[in-house]
Amino acid sequence: MIYSRIVGTGGYLPDRILTNAELATKVDTSDEWIVGRTGIKSRHIAAENESTCDLAEQASLKALEAANVDISEIDLIILGTTTPDRIYPSTACLLQARLGNHGAAAFDVQAVCSGFVYALSTADKFIKTGAAKCALVIGAEVYSRILNWTDRGTCILFGDGAGAVVLKPDSEPGILSTHLHADGAYKDLLTVPGQVANGRINGDGFTKMQGNEVFKFAVNALRNIVDETLQANQLDKDAIDWLVPHQANIRIIAATAKKLKLPMEQVIVTVAEHGNTSAASVPLALDVGVRDGRIQRGDMLLLEAIGGGFTWGSVLVKY
Ligand code: UT7
Repeated sequence: MIYSRIVGTGGYLPDRILTNAELATKVDTSDEWIVGRTGIKSRHIAAENESTCDLAEQASLKALEAANVDISEIDLIILGTTTPDRIYPSTACLLQARLGNHGAAAFDVQAVCSGFVYALSTADKFIKTGAAKCALVIGAEVYSRILNWTDRGTCILFGDGAGAVVLKPDSEPGILSTHLHADGAYKDLLTVPGQVANGRINGDGFTKMQGNEVFKFAVNALRNIVDETLQANQLDKDAIDWLVPHQANIRIIAATAKKLKLPMEQVIVTVAEHGNTSAASVPLALDVGVRDGRIQRGDMLLLEAIGGGFTWGSVLVKY
C-alpha cells in the first residue's frame, strides 16, 4: 500500500497588517463586535503589486526547503485559489514558471475556502496510484481584492496569505483518508456572482454572503464530517491529537472541537491574526503548528474546511 506523506510545509503572509481598530475607521464596526462574533483581531493584506502567485511562491519555497526537495523533483502542482492572477493560464502554471519547474502537471482547484482540502485530496490520489512521485500542493489567496470594503458584513472577515505542502509516497501513513462534498443548491449564500464577458465584469465582482445561514450550515456540515472521517477509519474521537480547521470564525472552530471533545489547546487557531484566508487558511494553520513544534511526527491530524458552493471536506493525516 502506498500512502502520501506530508514531507514539508510552508506559509507566507503579506507584511501589511489591518487591525480591527483601523477597519472601524472605515466601516461602522468595532473591535469588540468583530472579536466577539468572529475571534478575528487583525488580518494581512497583500500590497497592490503582490498577486496570488507571489504569495504562493514564498510559501512554496519554504515548503520545498523544509522538505529538502528540489523544484525539479516536483511532478504535480495543484493550487487552490478563488483569486487567480489571470483567467488563464492557471496560477499553478504561473507558479510553476516562477519556481523554474518544467513538465510537471499543474492546475488550479476552485473550491473557495475548501480549495486546499480539495487540492490535497486530489494530490493524495495521484501519489497513492503512483501517477505522481512528488507533489506541491498550495492554497493561496488575495481575497482582499474581491471584498466590498463598505460592506461590514464581509470585509471584516477575510485576509490574504498562502500555505503549501510537499507530498511524497511512503509505505507508512501518511494521509489516511479524504472526504469531499459539495452542494450547489447553496450557490447564492456565499458568492461572487459577477462574470467576465466582453472585456469586463458583468454583475457584481464582490463577495456576497448571508453570514447567518453560512454559519449554521458550516457548524452542521463540519460536525457531520467529523463523524464521517472517524467512522471511515474506525477511530474514536480520542485518536485525534490536533484539529487543524478552516479559520473562518472561532465560534465555528469551537463547535467542531466540542464535537470532537477536544480541548481548544489541541486546536491550531490562527483566526485571530490571519482572519479567513480562504484556501490558504488550513495550510497556513498547519505550517504554524508544525513550525512552533506543537505538531509532531506521528500525531493524528484532522484537517477540515467549508466554503462557497457550498463545498466542504476533511483530510485525516498521520503526520
Ligand atoms: O469560509 C466560510 C465562509 N464564511 C463563514 O463561515 C462565515 C460564517 N458566518 C459568520 O461567521 C457570522 O454569521 C458573521 C460573523 C458573518 C456574522 O455574525 P452573526 O452573529 O451571524 O451576526 P448577524 O449577521 O446575524 O448580524 C447581527 C447584527 C446585525 O444587526 P441587526 O440587524 O441585529 O441590527 C448586523 O447588521 O450585527 C450587525 N453587523 C455588524 N455590526 C458591527 C454585521 N456585521 C457587523 C460588523 N460590525 N462588522
